[in-house]
Amino acid sequence: MKTITVHASQTYDIFIENGLLDACGTILKQTTKAQKAAIITDDTVEALYGARVRASLEKEGFEVIQFVFPHGELSKCSATLNQIYDFLCENSMTRTDCLVALGGGVVGDITGFAAATFLRGMDFVQIPTTLLAQVDSSVGGKTAIDLPGGKNLVGAFKQPVCVICDPRTLDTLPPEIFSDGMGEVIKYGMIRDAALFDLVAAHTQESISAVLEEVIAACIAIKRDVVEADEFDTGERMILNYGHTLGHAIESYYHYETYSHGSAVAAGMCMMAAKTCDPEVTERLKKCVKAYNLPTEVPADIRALVPLCGKDKKRAASQLRFIVCRVIGRAEIHTMPFDSFSLWMEA
Ligand SMILES: NC(=O)c1ccc[n+]([C@@H]2O[C@H](COP(=O)([O-])OP(=O)(O)OC[C@H]3O[C@@H](n4cnc5c(N)ncnc54)[C@H](O)[C@@H]3O)[C@@H](O)[C@H]2O)c1
Repeated sequence: MKTITVHASQTYDIFIENGLLDACGTILKQTTKAQKAAIITDDTVEALYGARVRASLEKEGFEVIQFVFPHGELSKCSATLNQIYDFLCENSMTRTDCLVALGGGVVGDITGFAAATFLRGMDFVQIPTTLLAQVDSSVGGKTAIDLPGGKNLVGAFKQPVCVICDPRTLDTLPPEIFSDGMGEVIKYGMIRDAALFDLVAAHTQESISAVLEEVIAACIAIKRDVVEADEFDTGERMILNYGHTLGHAIESYYHYETYSHGSAVAAGMCMMAAKTCDPEVTERLKKCVKAYNLPTEVPADIRALVPLCGKDKKRAASQLRFIVCRVIGRAEIHTMPFDSFSLWMEA
């Protein structure tokens, strides 16, 4: 088993091993004093893995209760959050009990926010079951729900007591959701780790499963390092946004319907690389992106996308901060007046 320790405002371990789902009860027993564990999950993940997680927790003597909501981003909202609070009240959960987030980033984000706020804070464990959740959203302590006015507008920093990562749960992921997570994996290689990029580039969507444990651990280690240096996202954590400035613009231009987040980030990275890298670096990135069935560009005109780049949280007044990787494995934070950015991108 690989163990990665995160030293944030709370120190905790991330355990990574194929088949680890069945040991979640044993791990939780060692990491919390909870008597009762409330599994929060969505309907798809509950059908696939709910029984195994319940059995493992019950074997270790936990009283287990479970709240299941419909899968999908639309559930990451205040209505579901209120239902979770009511469920926790009805079941007399105390501050020493524990929430178990079993699922993708939607489950992790809303459960983490419930854990940060219910009774002013209680323990929670992350059991991420999508690639994106394993390499990204379950690590770092950002939790949130969406509002009608935008994504992740209400949230809190709340670190879990541990993260239990079983790469075998990814075997049941639909291929397009797996690809979506690969967008973030490729990003980690670009911003921090040329060896990780080489490993990922040497495989394809069909062959990567042989080295997935290694790839996931490498990504988590990068996110851990970045989070430890900037837990509350005031500086260096920004490098995780490589590909995201254009990526968010692409998602927004297509009304969040045509391109998934990972696809938009992949295209965003390639478009930024074309502006900033030697042609052979851009070609390597594009080849890698294509090997995971992700787009290297989008049909929308760059002049329509650029104005939307200012709409995410990285635009301070008229200045735009964005991430550039001129070589594979090293990210730089750039700041430019928004008008100059527009002219530069459109040139
Ligand atoms: N907190 C953070 O730092 C952070 C970082 C990145 C993204 N996010 C958030 O993460 C969310 C996206 O996460 P996601 O892509 O995991 O989406 P998701 O949680 O909606 O999962 C995608 C789909 O996969 C299904 N699924 C999950 N595990 C499965 C499995 N093992 N087999 C088959 N199906 C499975 C789910 O039911 C869902 O339908 C967004 O809300 C985003 O804002 C948070």
